[in-house]
Amino acid sequence: MSNGLFITLEGVEGCGKTTQARLLAEYIQNSGRRVVLTREPGGTAIGRRIREILLDPASKGIDSRTELLLYFADRAQHVAEVIEPALADGAVVICDRFADATTAYQGFGRGIDLELVADLNDVATNGLTPDITLLLDIPVAEGLRRARIRNGDGNQAREGRFEEEPDEFHEKVRQGYLTIASCETERFKVIDASGTEEEVQTAIREKAAL
Ligand SMILES: Nc1ncnc2c1ncn2[C@@H]1O[C@H](COP(=O)(O)OP(=O)(O)OP(=O)(O)O)[C@@H](O)[C@H]1O
Ligand SMILES: [Mg+2]
Repeated sequence: MSNGLFITLEGVEGCGKTTQARLLAEYIQNSGRRVVLTREPGGTAIGRRIREILLDPASKGIDSRTELLLYFADRAQHVAEVIEPALADGAVVICDRFADATTAYQGFGRGIDLELVADLNDVATNGLTPDITLLLDIPVAEGLRRARIRNGDGNQAREGRFEEEPDEFHEKVRQGYLTIASCETERFKVIDASGTEEEVQTAIREKAAL
């Protein structure tokens, strides 16, 4: 058994996952623990090649099962190469999106059978479950507004495939995340992500007792 701690951040586009993951990593690092900050898709060299395919607007015509399996391929490599070794070494692993994202986006959002997603997630994660999952909850319109301002800055503009989805898709994803959280109330900490960066970070530390 590992003595590490596995924390994941989840939520709709633009809710602040990447921002809060970075702030939390700095905070925990300052307390003297080793932190591995990583993300999905794209937490490994192989995964970064998969991420390019997944998030490129040119992949618009991707079959939903192809998309699903690419996410699992990315995850399997990430768990084996990065997450499991870091946890075994006692690190705090902070992961920007993980298995619940596939359940929310491909399961609740795209309508793929939830049991199938759960079974494949078990394969991809090798049975690994986060200790703490921070669900940054925000109205879809506010998250998309933030993401679009960010993408307007230029360098992340190519990563906008999901941002092109209709609002109702994102609403299904948001409600999906809340449903998953309500089934696993020990693991999930639902955080109101509509405040300032500092307010959200404070809520995270309080709710997760970090
Ligand atoms: N609390 C906040 N208030 C206002 N703007 C914020 C807040 N948190 C983050 N932002 C800004 O909103 C944009 C989206 O934040 P961020 O990239 O952290 O979200 P994300 O959840 O990682 O998005 P994605 O799902 O696209 O990866 C960024 O430009 C970020 O600087
Ligand atoms: Mg992000």
